[in-house]
Amino acid sequence: MTLFQDEIKRRRTFAIISHPDAGKTTMTEKLLLYSGQIHMAGSVKARRAKKHAISDWMELEKEKGISITSSVLQFEYAGLVLNLLDTPGHADFSEDTYRVLTAVDSALMLIDHSKGVEPQTRKLFAVCRSRRIPIFTFMNKLDRAGQDPYDLMHEIESIFGVECVPINFPVGRGGRDFKGVCDLRTRMATLLKDTQHGTREGEMLRISIDDPQFLTQVGAEIRDQLLEDLEMLNSAGNVADPAKLATGDQTAVFWGSAMTNFGVQPFLETFVHLAPAPHARQTKQRNVNPEEEDFSGFIFKIQANLDPRHRDRIAFMRICSGLYKSGMRAVITRTGKDIKATPPQQFLAQERKQIEQAYPGDIVGVYDPGIFHIGDTITTAKDVEFDDVPVFSPEMFGKVILTNPLKRKQLQTGLRQLTEEGAIQLFQRWSADDLEPILGAVGELQFVVMEYRLKAEYGAEICFEMMPYRFARWLSGPEAALQSCIDKNKKQILRDRWDNPVLLFESEWQISFQKDKNPDLTFHDTHRKKIAASPYPQH
Ligand code: G4P
Repeated sequence: MTLFQDEIKRRRTFAIISHPDAGKTTMTEKLLLYSGQIHMAGSVKARRAKKHAISDWMELEKEKGISITSSVLQFEYAGLVLNLLDTPGHADFSEDTYRVLTAVDSALMLIDHSKGVEPQTRKLFAVCRSRRIPIFTFMNKLDRAGQDPYDLMHEIESIFGVECVPINFPVGRGGRDFKGVCDLRTRMATLLKDTQHGTREGEMLRISIDDPQFLTQVGAEIRDQLLEDLEMLNSAGNVADPAKLATGDQTAVFWGSAMTNFGVQPFLETFVHLAPAPHARQTKQRNVNPEEEDFSGFIFKIQANLDPRHRDRIAFMRICSGLYKSGMRAVITRTGKDIKATPPQQFLAQERKQIEQAYPGDIVGVYDPGIFHIGDTITTAKDVEFDDVPVFSPEMFGKVILTNPLKRKQLQTGLRQLTEEGAIQLFQRWSADDLEPILGAVGELQFVVMEYRLKAEYGAEICFEMMPYRFARWLSGPEAALQSCIDKNKKQILRDRWDNPVLLFESEWQISFQKDKNPDLTFHDTHRKKIAASPYPQH
């Protein structure tokens, strides 16, 4: 194997998905702690809090106590390179999360075992399923009382239609009884002594459950319960099948408590072996193998003003094949523009460092002078273009009112840059006489962030006049039918950034009404900017 192939095989690129408060931040810290990246957990949070001071708009994130931005972390464990993509937990940012999930090879789903499957987990799981990526499940917070483990697995199986394959099982049910986890295949238990809120690696005891010492450690009740569990699980016969894990038809299940460190290391040890290395990816033309010499990657996220001192814009790229080297030449397929690759940047929390080269599976930040769009393919190959990243129907719409008309230019720049980031969708009325911008988003928080960022980063103070609509549908079909629909719905018809016609609705009933009235038109609830090309001239 060449060095290049070896580097690819070492990569594991994944994201953590969960409902807010299930423990994503804590788990991220613990993965860093157990891979030796930090010596005391809590520093990611602390660093984040400190950095908020220099990044104005992240103040908002702090105030709201939620993770709006998503960062990319790279760290090594057991000779492997892990790329962990953080996803915003809040439901209002589900589109951002969707884009992040296009860039990973697997996902870790965290579940608070006292709550079970929560709404945001459902949404995110559905996205992972649609992309058929392997999903690992970590049942968290076992230091507290929770639901019966069998009920939890049954819940996942019945809601998501996937088979749960427990890799380990709790030694002692939740709460005070919880002593650690037992690997079902090897019958080795990992017991942990409670540590000071788990900020440091805990003292760990690895012991066979058949060793008489095990009984002394956990007591007869817990041991007997575990033996019963093992027998039951063995007879249930849920065996990990690599093919089913790879397509997400099975999910490997782990148990633990991120806060007190129980089960974190056993998870990490097994996860890195079960999680896939970068593999071939589909493009519009053909499958691209990571080992190909030609470079290819796509942009899945753009973030402006990451560091307000530099007012720069960073495009996050997932590398799919070939080596990314600073100074090499590649083409943006959308525009045909030839570019010289800037030095790739890597991130640890909000800190960046420049590196020389990056491999398939890696996520790098590249400096963006305004030339990249989300979904862009960057490649040296002649015949490779990745699928566009879809845009989803917003669920709320608001007209932008500029409170200081002298700042119109700043508003336009801000809106252009922030919508290119994909932070929110920009529309305007179809008729050319009304140029007032209209923004569409999944949730209220995106409007709050937009208002905040336009003021903090561009000096444009705005407010929103909210509209009653809850759905958008992109229209496509014969030109005459489109024109007739546009003429009849002047009030509800908008154009998007690419001049495509979009119809707004207040209810699902209205959607079916319009569908009946316009049988020749197709109503799309997601939109890939190049598929439904507009017949209308750009202006
Ligand atoms: P999130 O990123 O998914 O939103 O969750 P986060 O890690 O911030 O955790 C949410 C809360 O749950 C935190 O408590 C955190 O300490 C707690 N938590 C995480 N993992 C565990 C666990 O294994 N067991 C228990 N009992 N709690 C856990 P908080 O009070 O909101 O914050 P903090 O003061 O502890 O930082």
